[in-house]
Amino acid sequence: MEPIQIGSLTCKPLHPTFVAEISGVDFSQVPLPQNVIDDLVAAQNRFAVTVYRDTGLDDARHVKFSQQLNECELCPKFGGPAQPDRFSDPHLFDAGNMNLDGTLIQKDTRRWWYNKGNALWHTDSSFNQHRSKYSLLLAHLVPQEGGDTQFADVRTAYDDLPQEKKDEIEDLVIEHDLWWSRQIAAPEEFKSVTQHEKNAKQPAYHKLVQVGPDGRKTMFIAAHAKRVMGWSQEKSTKLITELIEHCTQPKYTCSVKWYHPGQLVWWDNRISMHRATPFSDQMEKRDMRRTTVFDDGPEAYGVPDAPQMELGGSLPPA
Ligand code: OGA
Ligand code: MN
Repeated sequence: MEPIQIGSLTCKPLHPTFVAEISGVDFSQVPLPQNVIDDLVAAQNRFAVTVYRDTGLDDARHVKFSQQLNECELCPKFGGPAQPDRFSDPHLFDAGNMNLDGTLIQKDTRRWWYNKGNALWHTDSSFNQHRSKYSLLLAHLVPQEGGDTQFADVRTAYDDLPQEKKDEIEDLVIEHDLWWSRQIAAPEEFKSVTQHEKNAKQPAYHKLVQVGPDGRKTMFIAAHAKRVMGWSQEKSTKLITELIEHCTQPKYTCSVKWYHPGQLVWWDNRISMHRATPFSDQMEKRDMRRTTVFDDGPEAYGVPDAPQMELGGSLPPA
């Protein structure tokens, strides 16, 4: 696939419909000039997932660059028993497999099971009522083998749905719940999520069919999606499973390999899904740090009054 030029950026597509490796950015100069940010956002809107091989970014510049894109989430703390942060900056989310002292997170601990949720196709932070648009994952240590991150092109998958399915789902609202995806990933470990944990992270409500930042239609659905408002759990699960399976067919997916520390992958959660893949996590360290940038688009705050609407019967019944 031929590289294309967006302003000062060279974009080498890694898949026929999305994902590109970008070159031409000098990350030693953060904050980046506004014209470069504009080109990067244009590339992001076009490709949904962009890859930067040798950024040389450190924690401080990673956060500062992310904040040029909008305000960033503070790292959530629902991972289980108090887990001290490895990082000094509270905006960095730990997607690695190490404890504070540098040892590996042991198999079958709660934190290990919690991380297993990342192996499900998901969109970051869809369980927040103020959702996030971007995630920027920076590698600090990469395993010798495995641990690729896979992405799915939801816009193209939506385009390819039959018209009857598009009509059926057009006005649906979805409940997204962190504990739902955790129970799917690790039913035994998260069977007994406490009321305290549930209160700390309550569900959020978002429209299923949305218009993406480039004007194309897309779907906001993945592992945290629990049910369709107004529908039974059984009917909801059937539709949600069907749509995730549709979007993650091999033709819509692309696996991104992590080559070196300093590699950055930036994705748009509104128009893609992603998942982690296995590596020898009991043998090798994988140190990955993520910033998560709040959405400021028209769907940023979703449909917070959906539960009341459901009680009032103003959503279509199942
Ligand atoms: C994430 C995530 C996948 C990976 O950081 O949000 O899902 O491969 N990471 O680490
Ligand atoms: Mn993720």
